[in-house]
Amino acid sequence: MPSKAKTVWYCTSCGNETSKWMGRCPACGEWNTMKEGLSRNSRSSSAANPRALVGLSESRPVPLKDISVERDSRILIGNKEVERILGGGIVPGSMILLGGEPGIGKSTLALQIPLRSKGLRTLYVSGEESPRQIKLRAMRLIREEEGDTEEGCTILGETQVDSIIRYARELNPDLLVVDSIQTIYSENIDSAASSVTQIRECAAALLRLAKESGIPVILIGHITKDGSIAGPKVLEHIVDVVLQFEGDTRHSHRILRSIKNRFGSTAEIAIFEMTGTGLREVENPSEILTPMHQENLSGVAVGSMVDGSRPFLIEIQALVSTAAYGMPQRSATGYDVRRLNMLLAVLEKRAGFKLSAKDVFLNVAGGMRVNDTACDLAVVVAILSSTFDLPVNPGTCFAAEVGLSGEIRPVGRIEARISEAARLGYKEIYISPYNLSEDLRRTIRSSSIRIVEVPDIGALCRTLFKGGQ
Ligand code: TYD
Ligand code: MG
Repeated sequence: MPSKAKTVWYCTSCGNETSKWMGRCPACGEWNTMKEGLSRNSRSSSAANPRALVGLSESRPVPLKDISVERDSRILIGNKEVERILGGGIVPGSMILLGGEPGIGKSTLALQIPLRSKGLRTLYVSGEESPRQIKLRAMRLIREEEGDTEEGCTILGETQVDSIIRYARELNPDLLVVDSIQTIYSENIDSAASSVTQIRECAAALLRLAKESGIPVILIGHITKDGSIAGPKVLEHIVDVVLQFEGDTRHSHRILRSIKNRFGSTAEIAIFEMTGTGLREVENPSEILTPMHQENLSGVAVGSMVDGSRPFLIEIQALVSTAAYGMPQRSATGYDVRRLNMLLAVLEKRAGFKLSAKDVFLNVAGGMRVNDTACDLAVVVAILSSTFDLPVNPGTCFAAEVGLSGEIRPVGRIEARISEAARLGYKEIYISPYNLSEDLRRTIRSSSIRIVEVPDIGALCRTLFKGGQ
């Protein structure tokens, strides 16, 4: 007897199912994320049966040593940085979710893959743009001098999942791109396109296609800043790789971050620059984020930050001025205001700087976001440099955390930070005296960069701003 359709409530953030509406999801703790939908059991759901999802038949226990695999053959996509993030290319039959805010450049990145890789047959399904619009975009993106080609790229303007799967089986491409999962729907499901049920079911159908046919799938998904119209969040469990495209749309730099990867490390990021002809890979981020100033400017300091597994140097700018109106302002772009307030309190209490009556503005250059505490010292130096109106030598950079008692604390991956600074031609780097082991000290002594070890903020001021106090 067919079971009666039962409605349940889904969390749009984590996909948790409850029998009644709740203001707050009991699983993930998010507020106002519960939406009504059909229960898993009352749908002839593939998501309800994980085995059906990946196309497996009845299984028996097998010794690990007896399981045979073909050599890990990766599909190369003509974009070195994306390949690196994926762990060396796309694994056949895998499903990749490319998430990000609208307008960040997801469609551009996905369209550049078939254009840049010769001989890769791609089916690009778009439910957002017409084939004509895609052609216009492709014409802008193609750089003939670099051997880009339209050859092998097929466009399909379709939103019905069964027909997408039918065409994919018929054409059997090397790669299927679906732009975006929110626009795709299945006629078998009685719920509006872009609802969580639709998104989950369509993704499950595409995942089955990927596992059965071996065609890798890139799913594009929109995520808003607060993650509310998420949808893609519920997909994170079923896909193999989650790539997130981030950045400030007002700036040209974008960061591609791997937040889940079943075939590689998640500690990888890649930086791109949005240009008039699409996204350009930035192989040496430090070079664009820290332009060496010819003239000496006050209020500028270069910090060393590690994001993913890569260290790079970043310019931090501060402006300290007497507050014109009663309440002094504190504002930070690309930096946590609470951390800024903490560092200001340390400067006030432990080093005796009267900053409570000053406006303090902080800016991280290039639209980047810093959340590595190793940039504390650079922030403090930028603030002091602006306070004294004394510039810091442009060949100097900083890598240390600042503690609540004004002490300069050691940070992780110091060796990588020092060698990145040396590679970029910096002459000296300020670090904590507790950061270097004897071995490291010996190897670094022979390098071209001078290490300055400062124990606390007082010592920092005495070495760096001799004339300031
Ligand atoms: P798009 O890839 O459409 O973003 P998404 O798919 O994530 O919504 O790109 C959006 C922005 O990128 C758009 O505002 C214009 C800009 N852009 C360029 O600056 N140069 C280019 O060559 C292209 C194609 C887009
Ligand atoms: Mg798009």
